[in-house]
Amino acid sequence: MAADISKFTYFLGTALDRFISENQKQFTYASGELSQLLRDISLASKIINREISKAGLTGIAGSMGEDNIQGEHQKMLDVISEFRFIATLRRGRQTCGIISEEQAGIIDTGNHNAKYVVAIDPMDGSSNIDVNVSIGTIFSIYRRISPLGTPATEQDFLQVGANLVAAGYILYGPSNMLVFSTGFGVNGFTYDPTLGEYFLSHPNMKFASKGEIYSINEGSYHSFSPQLQYYLELCKKRKYSARYIGSLVADFHRNLLKGGIYIYPSTKSHPNGKLRLLYECNALAFIAEQAGGKATDGKKRILDIQPYELHQRTPFFVGSAEMVDEVMEILERKM
Ligand code: AHG
Ligand code: MN
Ligand code: MN
Repeated sequence: MAADISKFTYFLGTALDRFISENQKQFTYASGELSQLLRDISLASKIINREISKAGLTGIAGSMGEDNIQGEHQKMLDVISEFRFIATLRRGRQTCGIISEEQAGIIDTGNHNAKYVVAIDPMDGSSNIDVNVSIGTIFSIYRRISPLGTPATEQDFLQVGANLVAAGYILYGPSNMLVFSTGFGVNGFTYDPTLGEYFLSHPNMKFASKGEIYSINEGSYHSFSPQLQYYLELCKKRKYSARYIGSLVADFHRNLLKGGIYIYPSTKSHPNGKLRLLYECNALAFIAEQAGGKATDGKKRILDIQPYELHQRTPFFVGSAEMVDEVMEILERKM
């Protein structure tokens, strides 16, 4: 009788590499470069995962003691993640230019014949590093507008989000996940560190049309508009759950899986909110729409906003479609 080995095995989905190769023909310009770029991003995420998993031991969980170009406090992992990403994309040779939260201008990779530019938030939720709570990376990929053979220009990055070729995020949580879209739905991959591979664990991810979670930093309640305050009271009356990790990637991911809305609004002191259009909001708006959700700045679709500068900020309402519609309708009311 053959031995029953089922209890010694576990299900392994499609490996990321296989998924990328099998789906490459969907891309409009299927010459393999975008596939390679996605592989490079997954490689960078594995390297960063390795840094993060030993951060508490090697003393890199702390601060740089300096501010970045946004005037925000920089953590060591902000800098290390950015360095790893840039090095991997440079080596991968599919990206001519990069913009990052941590640097003012365009990073020239030297690969002037490459077709793509990448906008990244290398380490999102960095205030959570020191306390060992989930953090992330957000990436956006555009086809360049400038001619091949020249360095990337600002115009390559100042494209509406609707032009995105691919976007996604990496969540460094209890498990690592890579979630991305090339415009044909959203797929989520979970990392198996023992094999060094991502496996398809969440095929064809969809936002519930309506959820019962709202994610916002309610500590700033008194600087919100009366309309937004009204919406938050409504959430409480309906006994929605308030969930706010303080890492956009993690909050967004929770709502994608469970149904909900994430809000980072304008406030009295920050009329454009806090989050950055090019390397935070556009990517998540793209994922949200591909998953049947919505993303707006409270008035208009995020992916239709014409950027005018690399580090511009925008208010952000993203998540289950009916929830985003409802809050937009309330924001228009006279109060
Ligand atoms: P980053 O760490 O890349 O600067 O992003 C932090 C962002 C986002 O991840 C999070 O949702 C938000 O800042 C939290 O801001 P508040 O502390 O104002 O709530
Ligand atoms: Mn961020
Ligand atoms: Mn960041």
